[in-house]
Amino acid sequence: MSIAGYQPLCAQLGLTQGIPYTPQWSAAPDFLQLIVDHVLTHQPHTIVECGSGLTTLMLARACVLNGHGHVYSLENGADYAANTRAEIARYGLDAYSTVLHAPLLPHTINGRDYQWYDTTALTAHDIGLLIIDGPPGFLQHHSRYPALPLLRERLAPRCTLFMDDAARPDERELVEMWLVEMPAARHEYIANERGCAILHLAKT
Ligand SMILES: C[S@@+](CC[C@H](N)C(=O)[O-])C[C@H]1O[C@@H](n2cnc3c(N)ncnc32)[C@H](O)[C@@H]1O
Repeated sequence: MSIAGYQPLCAQLGLTQGIPYTPQWSAAPDFLQLIVDHVLTHQPHTIVECGSGLTTLMLARACVLNGHGHVYSLENGADYAANTRAEIARYGLDAYSTVLHAPLLPHTINGRDYQWYDTTALTAHDIGLLIIDGPPGFLQHHSRYPALPLLRERLAPRCTLFMDDAARPDERELVEMWLVEMPAARHEYIANERGCAILHLAKT
């Protein structure tokens, strides 16, 4: 996707001074449109995302349009965290976004080892929206699986999860793992450019 494909979203959100865009790494416009529409419609107060960048900027701007909401972004790369923070500051969005440098640490879940974000500095609770666009898939098998088991206790009674790159076999498998563990979750799959998994989660 060329940067021109982001133009409608930039216009909608008033991001008129340029955006941090990297081909391959930035979320595609069709994924961004889904999460922005969700924020504008459902107005979550607490948003957590895994993997910062363009998503952070657009989610924070959507919070501004709502007049409330905060995006907590877990970012394992110190440089990427600094870049995202600079973009957030450039657009005056600091009150709506906290980018946490969260190095990957070993976590054992159900007897399997993963590298996943350090959540020590994450203060967010009652998470109404969880966006999963990291850690990168090449790091390990089922790289994004730990998000749900490790953040589950912090979710609001009703929470929606969006995961990018859900067309990949690895992500398809880990969605099945989540659904086994959370059978009450409702799963939607959007066959957009890279695939988007949506889980509607309700505490029972
Ligand atoms: C898919 S990217 C996240 C993109 C972000 N959500 C966005 O829409 O811009 C996942 C992670 O890859 C890493 N990353 C970002 N750009 C990268 C690049 N050009 N090369 C290598 N890793 C990168 C960062 O740690 C980032 O959190």
